[in-house]
Amino acid sequence: MVLDASGLKFVDPFGLTLLGAGFQELITWGQRVVVHGLSADVGGYLRRMDLFAGVELRDCAPVMTRRRNRQDALVELTCILDRDTASDAAGRLTNALVGAVPGVDRDEAPDQMTGLTEVDRLGMPIQYVLSELLENALTHARRVGYQGARVWVAGQYYPTNDLVRLAVTDNGCGFLATLRNHPDLRGETHRDAILTAMKPRVSCNRDLGLREDTTNEGVGLTTVLRRARAARH
Ligand SMILES: Nc1ncnc2c1ncn2[C@@H]1O[C@H](COP(=O)(O)OP(=O)(O)OP(=O)(O)O)[C@@H](O)[C@H]1O
Ligand SMILES: [Mg+2]
Repeated sequence: MVLDASGLKFVDPFGLTLLGAGFQELITWGQRVVVHGLSADVGGYLRRMDLFAGVELRDCAPVMTRRRNRQDALVELTCILDRDTASDAAGRLTNALVGAVPGVDRDEAPDQMTGLTEVDRLGMPIQYVLSELLENALTHARRVGYQGARVWVAGQYYPTNDLVRLAVTDNGCGFLATLRNHPDLRGETHRDAILTAMKPRVSCNRDLGLREDTTNEGVGLTTVLRRARAARH
C-alpha cells in the first residue's frame, strides 16, 4: 500500500492511533506499507510519536533534530496487549500530560489532610478515563472471535487552547457485536450500540448469573463521559 502524505497537515492522537492500528494490521497480513511526500513538520512529529515502525518512508523531508519543546507533552503511540502494559501506559500518559500543564509544580509537597498533590488531583480523572477505556478494550473488544485484538493509545497536551486529547483505539469486535442482544438497543448500527453503551448500567456482561464469572456494572463509559464533560468547566 502506497500512501501519498503530501497533503497531510495535522494528526491528532485519534488519527495517530487509527493510522498505527491500520499500519500494524496491514503489516501483520504481510503487506508492505510505503508513505511518501511527508513534510518535515508532520513527518518529524509522527516519527517522534513512533508511528512508522515497519513502514517504509520515501521522498520525505529530512527529520528536524530540534529538541522537544518542554510544553509539548506527548505520549508516543503505544500498542497494548495485556493488563500489565495497560497500567504502565496509563500512568506514563497521565504523568506526561499533567506535567505539561503550565504552573503545575511536580515537586509540590502533598496536602497535609488529603495526602494529594496538584499532580494527583489533575491526573486522577485522566488516569480513570484511560484505565476504563483500556480495560474495556482488553475485555469486551476481545469477545466473539476477536481474542487477539490489540489496543493503541496516544495523547497530547495542546498548550494554546489548554486541551488534553486522549485516544484509545482497538481492533476488536466493535460495540455492536457485544450489545447486539441487549434489550436497550434500538437500532442495528454501530452508532446505536455506542450510544446505548454510554447509558448508565448498560453492559454486555451484567447479571450473567454465573458466580465464578466476573460481571460488570455498566457504569464505566457513563463515568468517562461525565468526567470529560466536567473537565470543560
Ligand atoms: N472497546 C469495546 N469494544 C466492544 N464493546 C465495548 C467496548 N467498550 C465497551 N463496550 C460495550 O459497551 C458496554 C458498556 O461499557 P461500560 O464500560 O460502560 O460498562 P462495562 O465495562 O460493561 O462495566 P463496568 O465498566 O462498569 O465494569 C460494554 O459492556 C460492552 O458491551
Ligand atoms: Mg467498562
